[in-house]
Amino acid sequence: LRTVGKSLFVCPPHPSLELCPAVLFFSRPRCSGIPYVPQPRDKSVSARSVISFYNQSAIDIAAEKPSVRLTPTTILYAGKSPDNSHILRSAQYLYKELPVRVAHRIRDFRHLPFIVGCNPTILHVHELYIRSFHLLSEFPPVEDFESEEKYTKLVKDLLDDHKDVVTLLAEGFRESRKHIKEYKVIQDFLDRMLTSRLGIRMLAQHHIALHQEKNLFHAQPNYVGIICTQMSLKKIIEKWADFSRQVCEYKYGYAPRVRVLGHVGVVFPYIPLPLDYILPELLKNAMRATCEQHADNPVNMPDVTVTIANNDVDFIIRISDKGGGMPREILEKVMQYHFTTCGSEMDPASENLDGLGTMMSAMNDGPNGAGPMYGKRQQPKARNPDSEDSDSNGFGFGLPTSRAYAEYLGGSLTYNTMQGIGTDVYLRLRHIDGNYESFRI
Ligand code: ADP
Ligand code: COI
Repeated sequence: LRTVGKSLFVCPPHPSLELCPAVLFFSRPRCSGIPYVPQPRDKSVSARSVISFYNQSAIDIAAEKPSVRLTPTTILYAGKSPDNSHILRSAQYLYKELPVRVAHRIRDFRHLPFIVGCNPTILHVHELYIRSFHLLSEFPPVEDFESEEKYTKLVKDLLDDHKDVVTLLAEGFRESRKHIKEYKVIQDFLDRMLTSRLGIRMLAQHHIALHQEKNLFHAQPNYVGIICTQMSLKKIIEKWADFSRQVCEYKYGYAPRVRVLGHVGVVFPYIPLPLDYILPELLKNAMRATCEQHADNPVNMPDVTVTIANNDVDFIIRISDKGGGMPREILEKVMQYHFTTCGSEMDPASENLDGLGTMMSAMNDGPNGAGPMYGKRQQPKARNPDSEDSDSNGFGFGLPTSRAYAEYLGGSLTYNTMQGIGTDVYLRLRHIDGNYESFRI
């Protein structure tokens, strides 16, 4: 276990090394049915999970099954029934589907290069998935509203337990990627992992939202689960522009304004959740570039311009900044996981901070945080707790993750940059109104 090729790999101390997933799945022959005691890092899920069994064959069987991917239209028009039977059906679909999807994730962990799979942070995430598999697959069948209530509670707890997965993976791969020659291995794993996880979280949150809508007090107007039936693109862009400006001001002391142009009146059904991840990432990049390029004259900083274009098949959001563009030598790298100029010599802000790439984490820093302006500036309100790992910024995950999400949603993320002037980023996403083929979740 400790020797990989010619290099000595010092296995870091692991509380359950004998039984940890890496040992179980990397040692040959594979040990199925070996008792496994997961090491939960928190106690939010019942003690039942603490004494569990590493039932490898159950994971193998589930991993062989294909996932049943639904179109948003199917989800949207599944129908709300007055007797709430739609909630029961939704839970029953999840009950079958989640273990399969979680097993696929575990299978991917098992296929990682040995040295990566042994990284303690990656092992921790791997364990989280194994633990979730147990809890989900050993849950008694959902047959009535009483069990549906308990099942929904479990799913909610698991979403919470997994909320830092992207940050953990970013950390884990940053630590271990130097051992891997082929970047593609990491890229394929992360693309699959992050998009599949987006799908899992969308399905889970959709069900939770349906469950909460039962109580009229919690019902949000114009929503069916996570689908907003009349989403205003302008409003959602403005929401994230405000948020990103607050964080930018907190970090730099100033922030460019954001103008929204084009088809500003369009309203259509869509799922805001992935936009809640992608938009702040892109706006944050545009603002950071603008602030750094115009640091000597922040009063006359050029605006960031967001243009909306809508058509029957898809909609496009272009984010344009005059932040100086990207130098030729980084063009091929900006879409790679872990590529960042935050905190590097290229980043003039890196003296005191780790750059605006980390500005999202600035909001968690609190008044004792790293930012030099912390005392006087008001700390931005935390991001929507439902949105994905807000503190994965500065890891160089913003662009590659946003692109993977856009492609998963049947769209694309591309950019044009003019070194010395600025950058245009194009996010193109397909409609989900059922008139044309969309993606499957
Ligand atoms: P991070 O923000 O953590 O650095 P991203 O993946 O979002 O990660 O961006 C990677 C890198 O791409 C940034 O560090 C920056 O060098 C470059 N970049 C992204 N957007 C822009 C932009 N609008 N203008 C200039 N450079 C950009
Ligand atoms: C994740 O968020 O990583 C998940 O897969 C959640 C799921 C276990 C409910």
